[in-house]
Amino acid sequence: MIKTKILRVDPVNPELKLIKEAANVIRSGGLVVFPTETVYGLGANAYDPKAVVKIFKAKERPLDNPLIVHICKLSELEEAARKVPEEVYIIAKKLWPGPVTVIVWKSDKVPREVTAGLPTVAVRMPAHPVALKLIEFSGVPIAAPSANLAGKPSPTTSEHVIRDMYGRVDVILDAGETLFGVESTIIDVTRKPPVLLRPGPIPVEKLEEVLGIKIKIPAFARGIREAEKALSPGVRYRHYAPETPMVIVESSNYGNYRDYALKVMEVARKYSMKGLKVCILASTETKDYYDASEFRVMVLGSRKNLYEVARNLFKMLRMLDELNVDIAVCEGFEEKGLGLTIMNRLRKASGYNIVRVG
Ligand code: TXA
Ligand code: MG
Repeated sequence: MIKTKILRVDPVNPELKLIKEAANVIRSGGLVVFPTETVYGLGANAYDPKAVVKIFKAKERPLDNPLIVHICKLSELEEAARKVPEEVYIIAKKLWPGPVTVIVWKSDKVPREVTAGLPTVAVRMPAHPVALKLIEFSGVPIAAPSANLAGKPSPTTSEHVIRDMYGRVDVILDAGETLFGVESTIIDVTRKPPVLLRPGPIPVEKLEEVLGIKIKIPAFARGIREAEKALSPGVRYRHYAPETPMVIVESSNYGNYRDYALKVMEVARKYSMKGLKVCILASTETKDYYDASEFRVMVLGSRKNLYEVARNLFKMLRMLDELNVDIAVCEGFEEKGLGLTIMNRLRKASGYNIVRVG
């Protein structure tokens, strides 16, 4: 057990004294949990292999799953990477600081512990005042995965972080709830054309518009099981999973709310008829079609505002395990824009337990 200090900071105008205190912990090889605009990260000095190894221990993360290096200025990218392709400068100019991570060739400065021995490194500049100040005051890039225990949904609130990381890290910077609620979009720009490794808050359509080129979307980036073994080591692991079994009801027509909801309810009823307690994860548009006396109904958000759905997603998954239900039946979303990101997380969370209803 490590003694953990919780420092409450203002998310918009962080108290610089507190950030300095946390930065000193980074500089002396310790672990700091910090907020980003996506989810909370579990950070250490990216150039200190001993500190980086502590991250894997604290998270119980397999050592072959590489970390993202967080930077606060472009010169840090140029130090950590080599042969930086043009696409990265476009992304940096248009989307950084922001929730996009690029995979680039690594320089010798980055220890193998960060990249799990890969010749490439993941880099991003987060758009959170606390994260940016922490990196700046530390004077080094910060290697950080999401601050959850391995296998748990990424933490989007300080309560999640405290539950998973209290006693395992030196400092937790508590700045309340994060903005996007899902992890950054990851794009591998060492390949031509670039390959999407993980959909995130910046939709792939936006990246294509900014870069002016097509991006390859492999099946595993959609959360399709058969393709999981390929490419990024991290995508192989079961992620985001609640303890409660989950099934996703996928359709090719989510637009007819009533029709779709009735199909979802049919699936749910198969379980409730067996005497199982069922929770339906619904949307604002469909929630009223479900029989609230038969099912527990939780609302993820509106189909017309997928940012809301994304922001609530991991919170809901963690909440599920406290509801004492036997199974969750979850609605699907069209794989456009943020819908791709949401479906990637949902499919993984369900362990690829999918029912198609046409
Ligand atoms: O929004 C985010 O990205 C958050 C915040 C804290 O920045 N971080 C995050 O980190 O989600 P993590 O470790 O949970 O996910 C990083 C993913 C993993 O799936 C890992 O395998 C992949 O990035 N990754 C890291 N380095 C890579 C590399 N060189 N090549 C391919 N994939 C890589
Ligand atoms: Mg993670």
